[in-house]
Amino acid sequence: MRRLAIYPGSFDPPTLGHLDVAERAAQLFDEVIVAVGVNSAKSPFLTDEERVDCLKECVKHLPNVSVDSFSGLLVDYVRSKSARSVVRGLRATADFEYEFQMAMVNRRLASEVETVFFMTKWEYNYLTSSIVREVATLGGDFETLVPGPVAEVIHRTLRKR
Ligand code: PNS
Repeated sequence: MRRLAIYPGSFDPPTLGHLDVAERAAQLFDEVIVAVGVNSAKSPFLTDEERVDCLKECVKHLPNVSVDSFSGLLVDYVRSKSARSVVRGLRATADFEYEFQMAMVNRRLASEVETVFFMTKWEYNYLTSSIVREVATLGGDFETLVPGPVAEVIHRTLRKR
């Protein structure tokens, strides 16, 4: 059986921590789909298309990782791909409550779907997309927090403002 995992997230923007999790998952699963959650009620910092495109650039060195987007319930997307595993990154303890709740809701909705957590490298423990957005919009140096292709898209977004 081919082991396929879905790695969902907002990825707004993708960070070095996200890439670290994707790389770890790629070593344990036969195939990983990084799935950008599209929520039409929110107005994201990077467009859905920008997030998908720059993630594709970020994971192009990983032959068993692809990028897609989804809307609606995560478990419906997971089932549509005939997957059984959801990958999430876990940073400091602050993440736990939210991640626990999400994993339990998803299990309630689809008992066959298992959530698997990966811990990022220690140096990415503080890193969140919202920190990157704040540093970038306030003119700070964000380039060391995100993969190169993401930095390019953020620069473009900031220039447009
Ligand atoms: O990177 P994020 O913002 O923590 O990702 C959250 C995401 C997109 C994985 C989560 O909001 C999600 O799964 N949304 C789809 C809607 C859904 O399935 N909700 C029920 C589970 S909480």
